[in-house]
Amino acid sequence: MAKRITTFDLRQKKQKGEKSTMLTAYDYSQAKTVDEAGIDMILVGDSLGMVVLGYKDTLSVTLEEMIHHGKAVVRGSQSSMVVMDMPFMSYQVNRDEALKNAGRLIQETGAQAVKLEGGTEIIEAVKGIVDAGIPVMGHLGLTPQSVGQLGGYKVQGKDKEVAKKMVKDVKALEEAGAFAVVLECVPWQLAGFIASTVSIPVIGIGAGKECDGQVLVFHDVMGLFDEFRPKFVKQYLNLRENMIEGIKDYVKEVKEGQFPGKEHIFDLGEEDIKQLLE
Ligand code: KIV
Repeated sequence: MAKRITTFDLRQKKQKGEKSTMLTAYDYSQAKTVDEAGIDMILVGDSLGMVVLGYKDTLSVTLEEMIHHGKAVVRGSQSSMVVMDMPFMSYQVNRDEALKNAGRLIQETGAQAVKLEGGTEIIEAVKGIVDAGIPVMGHLGLTPQSVGQLGGYKVQGKDKEVAKKMVKDVKALEEAGAFAVVLECVPWQLAGFIASTVSIPVIGIGAGKECDGQVLVFHDVMGLFDEFRPKFVKQYLNLRENMIEGIKDYVKEVKEGQFPGKEHIFDLGEEDIKQLLE
């Protein structure tokens, strides 16, 4: 069994100026593929709600759904660190509830860390989870669980007040013991400044290459989700179109009697079949 990447490894990478990589996965096969490709961290993101479960946003995702998918991802991975998103309302109520739910995510899935959205307003929850020995990743900038309050999926930190709060929030997360922080949809100069002022890795998504690493959603990278594509996504493959072509070929071959072929069937031999059907 390979050794999984640790928070210590990630911090060392930052010190050496090496970039960290992170990609989401939501099931066993995806996790196996992502892990085998050498990704440092697998995020079981609550983007699960949109790209796997067909919800309109991430707010409907439940703790039970996260646990169900997290278990499969842990089973499918060996070397990557698995980070579980804490879903909406699983950590906002109070520190005790946050700790209880983080504990369930870790204990029931076998994942290595949890991720929470927000800064100073959730700092007590972060401290409680860290004090219990659970590694915490922060998430600032565009935080999809607050999409209503942010007025949509918009770039964050273009004005002084928001930028200042972001700098303060990252520092607060670092002081509370978070091992890394995701910055989503943030101007690259601000993200770069933040990455240079903290010792923990800053993982960007739509935040430029000055960050210490990058994270993207599996379905976006693979071209599996066609409902919208944010500007920051680079699509490396077009699996959805390939899959549609493959399925069309299958349908055609079944209809035309080309599938199954000789190589896909089980043959009894003439004598055996005679005896069998006698
Ligand atoms: O849920 C998710 O996939 C995320 C990433 C976009 C960072 O939080």
